[in-house]
Amino acid sequence: MGFYSKVIFPRLLDLVMTTGQMKKRRAQVLADVSGDVFEIGFGTGLNLPFYPDSVKELTTVDVNPGCTKLAQRRIAESGITVHNQVLNAESLPMDDESFDSVVCTWTLCSIDNVEKALSEVRRVLRPGGKLFFVEHGASPDEKVRKWQDRLTPCWKVIGDGCRLNRNTEELIQDQHFEITSLDKGYMEKSPRFAGYMYQGVATKT
Ligand SMILES: C[S@@+](CC[C@H](N)C(=O)[O-])C[C@H]1O[C@@H](n2cnc3c(N)ncnc32)[C@H](O)[C@@H]1O
Repeated sequence: MGFYSKVIFPRLLDLVMTTGQMKKRRAQVLADVSGDVFEIGFGTGLNLPFYPDSVKELTTVDVNPGCTKLAQRRIAESGITVHNQVLNAESLPMDDESFDSVVCTWTLCSIDNVEKALSEVRRVLRPGGKLFFVEHGASPDEKVRKWQDRLTPCWKVIGDGCRLNRNTEELIQDQHFEITSLDKGYMEKSPRFAGYMYQGVATKT
């Protein structure tokens, strides 16, 4: 992992992923999280203030050690016991059916083998367990979508692997989750090419 990924990118995401709109969505996504909770792509821990008070303990992974390092201060301030590990979500060491809730915020865009990661999420969830997600992705508007395709190769460099054009809904459904709630649309005050959101809950049936 290079200097940009390990040192610059974690600081960049820590700065830019804190808009009012993003905070609002973090709060919405996390409101109903319960039981044994697992977060993939934990980043710098920006979700921590939005977990319900009932969540006292969390298991988290992120592939980037620079993010994990930066998350330490936020973990210490959170009052939540966080078991944070540098791991690739495509191949998890956790036992089958270990968690009730999995959280994933603006992460599926960045995972190389996203299908493998989602199948791992499904494996570690208990039957009836839920994946809580908010992701940016493919726009249904043809013009915007074309720009997403054009910009993705360059965006992947700035965003450390982030793709603009993934269809989160299809990716989740393809792994045999039942999407039980889904809100799709542009986030206010965001450029359209990066602002089409998929926010919801998917259940392991
Ligand atoms: C755009 S950031 C979002 C961080 C955090 N979820 C948030 O909402 O602030 C995407 C995160 O996914 C992580 N990531 C990318 N690929 C991953 C993988 N294969 N396994 C685990 N984490 C990964 C990155 O290191 C980064 O921290």
